Amino acid sequence: MKQVLAIFFVSFIIGYYIIDDFDASILKGKNVIVTGASGGIGEQMAYHYARMGANVFITARSESRLKQVIKRCEELGDSTRQYLYHVADMSDMSATETLIKKAEEGLGSIDYLVLNHIVLTYMGQWLGSRENFTGLSNTVDVNFLSYAHLASHAIQPLQKTNGSIIVISSVAGRVAQPYSISYSASKFALDGFFSGLRQELNIRGINVSITLCIIGLVGTSNAIQKIHEIHASNILNWAPMASAEDTALAIIKGGAVRAREVFYPYLPVRITSLINNLAPRLMEKFFQLMYQVD
Ligand SMILES: *[C@@H]1O[C@H](CO)[C@@H](O)[C@H](O)[C@H]1NC(C)=O
Ligand SMILES: *[C@@H]1O[C@H](CO)[C@@H](O)[C@H](O)[C@H]1NC(C)=O
Ligand SMILES: *[C@@H]1O[C@H](CO)[C@@H](O)[C@H](O)[C@H]1NC(C)=O
Repeated sequence: MKQVLAIFFVSFIIGYYIIDDFDASILKGKNVIVTGASGGIGEQMAYHYARMGANVFITARSESRLKQVIKRCEELGDSTRQYLYHVADMSDMSATETLIKKAEEGLGSIDYLVLNHIVLTYMGQWLGSRENFTGLSNTVDVNFLSYAHLASHAIQPLQKTNGSIIVISSVAGRVAQPYSISYSASKFALDGFFSGLRQELNIRGINVSITLCIIGLVGTSNAIQKIHEIHASNILNWAPMASAEDTALAIIKGGAVRAREVFYPYLPVRITSLINNLAPRLMEKFFQLMYQVD
């Protein structure tokens, strides 16, 4: 047991300090799709990619927000680059193929597919009501199924460039917690699908990397509002909160070096997963203290 802990500890430290072998110039001229780019981490990723000289194709449901993000990309980036947007609703699977086609037509080829969009999370108790099942279907469609569809349509273009798929998941996709179980289920599904797909691509000799990002609490306005909605404000006192901008950068770096997984913020996310594996009952007690629903 002591040896196991020592090995975990040493790998934490190594992981923590060695991450930064990243040279932003490798993203110059690369063609990138970012989904869910109208706000939060997706918006910040678009800005980082633009600053680093990539061509950026962003999608979301809100055209007016996308236009604003494109305008900012143009200010931050190089005028020789392309900044394109496409309005799409990811609860509609038929929109996924169109999205990849439009991106390939617009950019010429695809180097990175960054899957980041989510539906607004349904928070609250699971009572098995009709409302709960509607929420579950909607969550699984947008947060999981559309990712599988988009990735599948993109494999062929990505194969031509030895490209990468970057999948944004969450601690909730490794450690289940009460009152957001549809969200958690959709994020666990991403792990099952993409961790298996990575192996299949490898077996088939397809050189497309898959980076799964396990993200902790990020202080976007949506996240904070949701936490207050379920009266779990204790979480805000306890959990370290990262900014969307820093989180976006960590994801981009991990994708660029073709990492299997990105954990951000590194130590809190790694330690939470580790405790959950070693002492799941302790983790459950902890969540019950954090979430006090009226
Ligand atoms: C489940 O449905 C009930 C009402 O039927 C609602 O109060 C609760 O918030 C719902 N939970 C979720 C997670 O949507
Ligand atoms: C993709 O990687 C292979 C090696 O796996 C290399 O031979 C090929 O030239 C690369 N193609 C591109 C477009 O970079
Ligand atoms: C896959 O492609 C990347 C990027 O072009 C390259 O660095 C790497 O060597 C390739 N891997 C294999 C196994 O060919």
